[in-house]
Amino acid sequence: MAHGRVARPPAPITPGATAAGPDSTEVAAPTAGSTQLPDSGPARSWLPGAPGRRARLAPVNAAASHRALVTAPFRGEGLTTLRGLAHVVLDPWIDQHPVRLLDSDAMAAMVREHDADILVVESDFLNGPAIYDLPLVALGVCRGDPNNVDVARATERGIPVLRAPGRNADAVAELAVALMFAVNRRLVPADRDVHEGQTYRDGSIPYQRYRAWQLAGQTAGIVGYGAVGRALAWRLTGLGMTVLSHDPYAPDATSTLDELLAASDVISMHAPVTPETTDMIGADQFARMKPGAVYLNTARAYLHDDDALVGALASGHLGGAGLDHFRKEHLAPDHPLCSMDNVVLTPHIGGATYDTEANHSKQIADGIATLLAGGRPDNLVNPEVLP
Ligand SMILES: NC(=O)c1ccc[n+]([C@@H]2O[C@H](COP(=O)([O-])OP(=O)(O)OC[C@H]3O[C@@H](n4cnc5c(N)ncnc54)[C@H](O)[C@@H]3O)[C@@H](O)[C@H]2O)c1
Repeated sequence: MAHGRVARPPAPITPGATAAGPDSTEVAAPTAGSTQLPDSGPARSWLPGAPGRRARLAPVNAAASHRALVTAPFRGEGLTTLRGLAHVVLDPWIDQHPVRLLDSDAMAAMVREHDADILVVESDFLNGPAIYDLPLVALGVCRGDPNNVDVARATERGIPVLRAPGRNADAVAELAVALMFAVNRRLVPADRDVHEGQTYRDGSIPYQRYRAWQLAGQTAGIVGYGAVGRALAWRLTGLGMTVLSHDPYAPDATSTLDELLAASDVISMHAPVTPETTDMIGADQFARMKPGAVYLNTARAYLHDDDALVGALASGHLGGAGLDHFRKEHLAPDHPLCSMDNVVLTPHIGGATYDTEANHSKQIADGIATLLAGGRPDNLVNPEVLP
């Protein structure tokens, strides 16, 4: 591969104002006790700040002495493990209608109400100081990038923060596969034809309208060869596709970006949003793709230039697109993408599986078990809080 490599990718950033779901990197503090999905917030890395006071940890047989408040969806083996470590109050945000996402003040009140010393969250916005003044022995954050908590402040206050990297890799990879098939075989218009009783449309039978080239034997290019990219790679290989990958930080990635764009029939985006990746797919990159190529983005819309994507589709250069994310988490119904039959749009549901919840539950519960036993979990974000 021609491009150079460096030891570590830049930290993800948070461009633009947004509403945020559980996997969004786009977060901000809502008003106290807010029940709204919050809008945007400042770009911030979860990387820990300066070391502060030490964690208040003692290796104990914990179930009798610890109390855990869990506002994340939590299930499976991880829930069993946590129940063996602490008395658990399980009150997931996802079960609340209307949706309930707490800020730091409201969460601190809830923690005090339950007398908890372990807190596990997924989507609450803990950027304010209140929660970090409590004597927590662990703060579990059920997401890969715990950008909804103030890691620097937690570190300063000696609170260990745990995260759940790769929890939704399989889920997102499956959605990317689903979008690829939906675009390639035009499942959405075909489904609509049947629903509308239009099997025979404009004097044609469906077989005339819906022929496609099979995906087996085609080449797929994966941009961002991390947890999701790798989970997608083996699936596409299993479908009989040749898989290329581009990732300046993965020594085993196969291609430069230009090589990948020129050779791929399907291009799938799986990089984080960083200064380097924002708008990395623009008019020039779409032009370098093969005529008829399918573009998939189940990562973040900020990776491509929207106007350039619309232009490449409208000109017929691209064969289609499948997208699971939009700037500010919203696409206006009169946006050109909404009227294109060769575009399949999903509303940021890539990670939305029960398995994602089981995965993060296990990662966080195992991390808490290790902490309580006096160990150093792999998923600890701020190891400097430990002695
Ligand atoms: N649709 C959803 O619901 C959903 C859910 C989870 C994650 N995501 C998105 O998917 C992205 C990938 O998730 P992941 O768990 O695989 O993250 P990851 O950190 O495991 O992998 C990201 C990869 O991108 C690589 N990368 C960094 N800069 C790059 C560049 N300039 N060019 C190419 N590659 C680059 C990194 O080296 C890393 O290998 C996330 O950043 C997030 O935006 C979406």
